[in-house]
Amino acid sequence: MSVNQLGVDVDRIWADVMGLAAITDPDRPYTRRSFTPRFLEGRAWLARRFEEAGLAVRIDTAGNLIGRRAGRDPGARAIAVGSHIDTVPSGGRFDGIAGVAAGLEIARALAGTELAHPLEVIDFLAEEPSDYGLSCVGSRGMSGVLTDAMLDLIGPGGEHLRDALRRVGGDPDRLNAARRHDVGAYLELHIEQGPVLESGPIDVGLVTSIVGIRRLEIVFVGAADHAGTAPMDIRRDALVAAAATVSAVRQKAEELAAAGCGYFVATVGILEVAPGGSNVVPGRTRVVIDVRTTEPALTQDFVAAIDAASLGYAHAARVERTGFATLSEGPPVACDPALRQVLRESAQALGLSATDLASGAGHDAAFMARICPSAMVFIPCRDGKSHAPEEWAEPEAIAAGTAVMLRAVQQLDRVLAHKEAT
Ligand code: GLV
Ligand code: MN
Ligand code: MN
Repeated sequence: MSVNQLGVDVDRIWADVMGLAAITDPDRPYTRRSFTPRFLEGRAWLARRFEEAGLAVRIDTAGNLIGRRAGRDPGARAIAVGSHIDTVPSGGRFDGIAGVAAGLEIARALAGTELAHPLEVIDFLAEEPSDYGLSCVGSRGMSGVLTDAMLDLIGPGGEHLRDALRRVGGDPDRLNAARRHDVGAYLELHIEQGPVLESGPIDVGLVTSIVGIRRLEIVFVGAADHAGTAPMDIRRDALVAAAATVSAVRQKAEELAAAGCGYFVATVGILEVAPGGSNVVPGRTRVVIDVRTTEPALTQDFVAAIDAASLGYAHAARVERTGFATLSEGPPVACDPALRQVLRESAQALGLSATDLASGAGHDAAFMARICPSAMVFIPCRDGKSHAPEEWAEPEAIAAGTAVMLRAVQQLDRVLAHKEAT
């Protein structure tokens, strides 16, 4: 089936993706960090597109931008579709954005069609780890697991996450109002961020499960000193302990990945060195480790090993390990089998090839799964590359995934109505 026969408009979808791509920090495309003025610019642009699609637009108290159209049946639960428009620093144009554009296109494609259920298109707040150290802020809020301790996290300029949330239109004092009990199903389209579909080639991936993610923060404090005059044997170099810890992370992760007991990866993506002078012995370092697995027991094992190793390295470098904390934690999540079946049948009906696929990336769907059946459609992306400016998905690939979602929404409208009636 050609893309023009799929019932979605590839040019409209592409215009949305490229429209958002143009809203980037100019010196580091593609960057639209959550909570920044650039992000708010992107959101204002998106809110106008939602309105043009006939959606009623609001921001919930967890800071999610929601476009909604009413359904025929009063009291019917909503069918929700969406993803996120924030990016990592120097990220891509498709991660999250393709899912929001797909949701918007579904709303447009259904403009003349009555559904029994309300339809919501959601741009979740801060899916990527924000400058406050937390990811999936909006979907945590919507699923009722955004805690006070998280709202106390501190970001740029010493601002607390709760104040940043207020600044983008949320209300941390009324988070309960964002918690949803009226969503019947959630579907999210996303680029695969891996090579499987492209190398198939396969049109869509039906996500079986989403990895659990834990983020750990370790702080070492030594003593800043003169890099030319402080003798090696008296130095208290905080980077020496951090560097050894980075190596230990790599080594332990390789060991666990090779053990064959489940998927396991760990990454140090943040290493802060203070005061940061080429001629100054580092006095303080901060290491943030991102740990992902399908088997939580592996994370326990990893954390225990890194706890012991980092203490040992601190001791050997004569520095203090002043912090060893879990910044955030989420378990692995299975996608809903019934929704996956609806997606599989949609792909089949459209003549599109599909395969089951596990997700090594985190997604808002993992939090939505706490409050409603949730599932995801992956589409191919070039070289499987993501979180980088080269990230690319073909317009036709996004349109094909969107068509699968559209058909699934229509099918769910029937199935859920039936279930609600019986
Ligand atoms: C989201 O992009 C993630 O960190 O997997
Ligand atoms: Mn991402
Ligand atoms: Mn994403």
